[in-house]
Amino acid sequence: METMVGKTKLSLVQGDITQQDTEAIVNAANTGLLGGSGVDGAIHRAGGSEILEECKAIRAKQGGCPTGQAVITTGGRLKARYVIHTVGPVWSGGGKREEELLKGAYDSSLTLAKERDIRSIAFPSISTGAYRFPIEPAARIALSTVRDFLRGHSFSEVRFVLFSEKDLQVYEDCWKELSSTQAD
Ligand code: APR
Repeated sequence: METMVGKTKLSLVQGDITQQDTEAIVNAANTGLLGGSGVDGAIHRAGGSEILEECKAIRAKQGGCPTGQAVITTGGRLKARYVIHTVGPVWSGGGKREEELLKGAYDSSLTLAKERDIRSIAFPSISTGAYRFPIEPAARIALSTVRDFLRGHSFSEVRFVLFSEKDLQVYEDCWKELSSTQAD
């Protein structure tokens, strides 16, 4: 699905985040920044050791990356020039600021991309894998956070890359709901 939000193309696709040709792709990292499985493992495998080296340099400078925040490294061998590593919350029932922290992960990634004049960015569905955030509320948070951010900024493209057809359908349904109830 593709639509325009102001001057920005918002696209929802099924695919592999490591194959995206946007200027930046977002990694669903952990606070330690030393890699993992899922998206994190795929990006480090496909992007190569340069990415990990820069993650280690960030760790040496500032420790890891707190939940809800983001850091940026080279894209290494990826098509994307940059990887923005953000850390989503682990779902623990909803009583521990998970919604706020997930929103923070998207906001921090978008803000960092703007600071670096990055024109296009691709997100995975943050926190909905190993971190077990239920995908429907996660999609609502992701899409509403991006929609609100785009009220004050524009990119050439913001892309959500869903790993499964089912997840893509959840995001598409969620966007239809959000954009039908959005006050103009
Ligand atoms: N491309 C796009 N989406 C993917 C890919 C991929 N190559 N691989 C997995 N996904 C999807 C998953 O299906 C899920 O919907 O990305 C979403 C996020 O899943 P995770 O990668 O498990 O991320 P998250 O839930 O945020 O957990 C992060 O897992 O890998 C570790 O180091 C990471 O500790 C961190 C935790």
